[in-house]
Amino acid sequence: MAKYKAAITGIGGFVPETKLTNFDLEKMVETNDEWIVSRTGIKERRIFREPGKASSDMATYAVKELLEKTGTNPEEIDVVICATVTPDMQFPDTANTIALKIGAKNAWGFDLGAACSGFLFGLTTGSRFIESGAYKKVLVIGVDMMSSIINYKDRTTCILFGDGAGCVLLEPSKNEYGFEDADLHGDGSGAKFLNMKAGGSLHPASEDTVKNRDHYVFQDGRPVFKAAVSGMRATTLKVLNRNNITKDDIDWVVPHQANMRIINSLADYLEVPKEKVMTNIERYGNTTAATLPLCLWDYEKKLSKGDKLIFTAFGGGFTWGTVYLTWSYDSN
Ligand code: UT7
Repeated sequence: MAKYKAAITGIGGFVPETKLTNFDLEKMVETNDEWIVSRTGIKERRIFREPGKASSDMATYAVKELLEKTGTNPEEIDVVICATVTPDMQFPDTANTIALKIGAKNAWGFDLGAACSGFLFGLTTGSRFIESGAYKKVLVIGVDMMSSIINYKDRTTCILFGDGAGCVLLEPSKNEYGFEDADLHGDGSGAKFLNMKAGGSLHPASEDTVKNRDHYVFQDGRPVFKAAVSGMRATTLKVLNRNNITKDDIDWVVPHQANMRIINSLADYLEVPKEKVMTNIERYGNTTAATLPLCLWDYEKKLSKGDKLIFTAFGGGFTWGTVYLTWSYDSN
């Protein structure tokens, strides 16, 4: 039995100002705006290129906004969970660097991989920490600087990804609303379809790994697409059924922003009108761990106390799942 209910009590976000549009990409690889928009729904993405700056800096901008908005003293933060596949360095964890940069002197923290499901896994982990009664303020961050691991000569991946950061603060709920349920999955057999081969212990950096472009994202898009559609449908349905939620009860679907066709197919399957589905893929592309909190950041003013939110994501691993959460404050 949970001692407390965990609630999201604040949101922060950051996207870099520099835009990489489909028309820019037309000059870099053999592609065109019409193909990208019709196959993915993406028009532009943001790119973070400031000398000496990295994922922790984007996350720090997002967290500082959250702390200011919520009037939170950083020294009160107990735990920092940073979901990312683009940490500043292999180690130490980027969560520790962020804690230093925001002045969270009393926090411990760690990085969480899980690719595009990273924020969902972090949200669940952080909520369980609050529920246990062990911690009172947990920061969950999703940040990725995908431009640092994208091969801008590979048209099948460079059109998809962008940079950004989003975060939420979790605290014990002061009302009946908050984290309700989670259904999370992993399947290691999906690794061959979506990965970055080199830089780890299997293929440490070498002349060959650089020559083979193994330090970049590799994706075989079609099998990932199919698994994403079926995985997100199944996990969402499971959560809806076991919480007795019908399509009419859902106020917001918060889907991972990988492909507008995947998002539309989920909305059609759930029979939820498009107005209830959060999207910003058109402007930011796929920011991996940052997509879900950046959706919350963009839609915060539209959220009301008691709203039922269904988060769902699918990504490298494979990893996927759904979180059901009731919104705990009037955001406007
Ligand atoms: O966030 C993590 C999880 N990731 C996902 O959920 C992504 C899932 N996959 C996808 O979103 C899609 O598979 C992609 C957007 C990556 C690709 O779309 P697709 O409709 O599956 O295209 P495809 O890979 O089957 O390629 C169709 C054609 C191919 O040409 P041929 O073989 O039919 O002659 C590709 O070479 O489109 C070609 N193509 C392109 N053409 C213009 C691939 N990339 C491009 C491009 N511009 N950028």
